Amino acid sequence: MGSLDGKVAIVTGAAQGIGAAIARRLAADNARVVIGDLNLQGSSKVAEECGHGAFALKLDVGDPESVGDFYNEVEAKAGHPDILVNNAAIVPFIAWDEVDFDHWRMIMRVNLDGVFLMCRAGSDRMRIEGTKGRIVNICSNTIFAGTPNMAAYVAAKGGVLGLTRSLATELGGHKITVNAVAPGLTASEGVLDSPHKEAFDFVEMLQAVKGKGTPDDIAPIVAFLASDEAHWITGQTINVDAGMVRW
Ligand SMILES: NC(=O)c1ccc[n+]([C@@H]2O[C@H](COP(=O)([O-])OP(=O)(O)OC[C@H]3O[C@@H](n4cnc5c(N)ncnc54)[C@H](O)[C@@H]3O)[C@@H](O)[C@H]2O)c1
Repeated sequence: MGSLDGKVAIVTGAAQGIGAAIARRLAADNARVVIGDLNLQGSSKVAEECGHGAFALKLDVGDPESVGDFYNEVEAKAGHPDILVNNAAIVPFIAWDEVDFDHWRMIMRVNLDGVFLMCRAGSDRMRIEGTKGRIVNICSNTIFAGTPNMAAYVAAKGGVLGLTRSLATELGGHKITVNAVAPGLTASEGVLDSPHKEAFDFVEMLQAVKGKGTPDDIAPIVAFLASDEAHWITGQTINVDAGMVRW
């Protein structure tokens, strides 16, 4: 018996990093996990590790057609989703002087439009009597810190916080909760492959609890917010960053 017995849980962007840790954790709690990611090879490998009937499908969260096809396939293979974790995002490192409209749109398309498209279609499918739908959006503590070299990203994640609050209101009547988790700097494959990896020492200096954040530090709060037990929490954004941001 796990706390997510009988639940179907979609996790986007789970071919690696924080998403993969979330997928593994939800599966350990007995959810049937469906991974949607651009990287089908990586996500199929994670689905195999998850077990419990997990499977992976190719998905571009920023493309309405891809999102529609994805949900149709999920429905055909696993039925309606109970849990949706919007984790897929591009994590850029780019100086403000180099931010042009193409970059801005590329980030908004995936990091904000993608969350809208997944929630729009996903919440319709959750409005089935008896489904205590759970939506967890992965935000970022950069929205509180105004982290440099990430202007479009920070703006998009601020949008995720706003959407989380408004969707909690829109969907509360259907007993669907909508919350966000805002990680601090976390040693995912994406971060370790970028200039962000140079920031760990500086960030640690600001943390209340010392150490280096890993994807496994983020997954447990997502699993809790996805559980039936968390039914009294909605519209919240929870920082998971060893106390770097205290508000
Ligand atoms: N790692 C951090 O320090 C950190 C901090 C705060 C917030 N976050 C957030 O956590 C989440 C995961 O970050 P990460 O560091 O693990 O990222 P990552 O770069 O390691 O992995 C991102 C995953 O998303 C997938 N993806 C990218 N674009 C996609 C698209 N259009 N459609 C579907 N899948 C797509 C990639 O293929 C990849 O598997 C993101 O929302 C990120 O903004 C990360």
